[in-house]
Amino acid sequence: MTELDPDARRDSFATRAVHAGLTPDPSFGSVIPAIHQTSTYAQPRPGEFAGDYDYARSANPTRAALEAALGELEGGRGVTFASGLAAEHAVLTISCEAGSHAVLPADLYGGTYRLLDEVMSRWGLAYDLVDQTDLAALERTVRDDTRLIWVESPTNPLLHVVDIEGVVARRRHALVAVDNTFATPANQRPLELGADFVVHSTTKYLSGHSDVVGGVAITHSDDLYALLRFVQNAIGAVPGPLDCFLVHRGLRTLHLRMEAHARSAGAVVELLRAMPDAHDVRWPGFSGMVSFRHPRAGDIAARTRLFTLAESLGGVESLIEVPQAMTHQSVEGSAAAVPADLIRLSCGIEDPADLVADLEQALASSSPELELQAHRR
Ligand SMILES: Cc1ncc(COP(=O)(O)O)c(C=O)c1O
Repeated sequence: MTELDPDARRDSFATRAVHAGLTPDPSFGSVIPAIHQTSTYAQPRPGEFAGDYDYARSANPTRAALEAALGELEGGRGVTFASGLAAEHAVLTISCEAGSHAVLPADLYGGTYRLLDEVMSRWGLAYDLVDQTDLAALERTVRDDTRLIWVESPTNPLLHVVDIEGVVARRRHALVAVDNTFATPANQRPLELGADFVVHSTTKYLSGHSDVVGGVAITHSDDLYALLRFVQNAIGAVPGPLDCFLVHRGLRTLHLRMEAHARSAGAVVELLRAMPDAHDVRWPGFSGMVSFRHPRAGDIAARTRLFTLAESLGGVESLIEVPQAMTHQSVEGSAAAVPADLIRLSCGIEDPADLVADLEQALASSSPELELQAHRR
């Protein structure tokens, strides 16, 4: 495993983002280590191998470098997975067993809800949804047999910010896992607030260029880390070396990108708050995620030029989507259902003035006729 530099803890977040997990290659001195595109490692004698490198599902140096970097930025030890959902599954698997109870936020990424509701519940995991901004309600929902409180902050798609320390104070016997995908460690470090796990879809801001799918779970507990590593190998949902390299490269500009995303979002929010039909405009004040409601949501999403109509978020380019018809179909009809007129924006790092102009023309040109066409697509 790549060793953490003990001096790195003293550096600012920006400096750590640039350097985390990167040690020049010992063979040739390449500043960026090689991508170890291998499935196995030669052994001089049976059972003798360097570190834990016997087979690439178990360990890979490119993956280890990324894990060291992610651990360093969140303040724990990282274990990477082939997707954010695979990382979530690993946290659920090691925290819960048949008959346990989990608490979820009342609005959350649809895939997380589906994992609990349609997969884990078949293996005997019970859950309750609660608005986690209401800490008294959360306290009433946490039971003696609650093993895991799953937090998203900000939530997807309604962008509620949750008081993570307040949740930790009401955990009883439960572990607390925070999906930090929307905030990123540039804005929020849940392990420092008392959480047991941080989870990311590295597909989003951490890689930052919409060219890779990946996930990570990070913890500061040695025991939980060992369990995550065990599940990573035993289930085998591991990321490939090239994907690890891409996420690691993205991390090096995370601090700059997050500032630029926030600048774009701030400009867009100013426009939306001045538009007569746009209401319930939400932005937590950091990051690039904005949501708002509009009676012609589908039409507007089909009319933007720079905001691409697509699922996902967190890349350098701006995206627009209608969660009810796209990312959140799996919560339809449940207590976590989202309004049909909700639009979610992932504001990219283009010139904010161009993004504002694009939204302005889409909001101005929307018509009931186009709305009908958008629904038929
Ligand atoms: C907040 C959040 N968590 C987790 C995930 C799942 O990540 P992945 O798509 O990498 O499996 C997503 C995906 O959109 C997400 O938005």
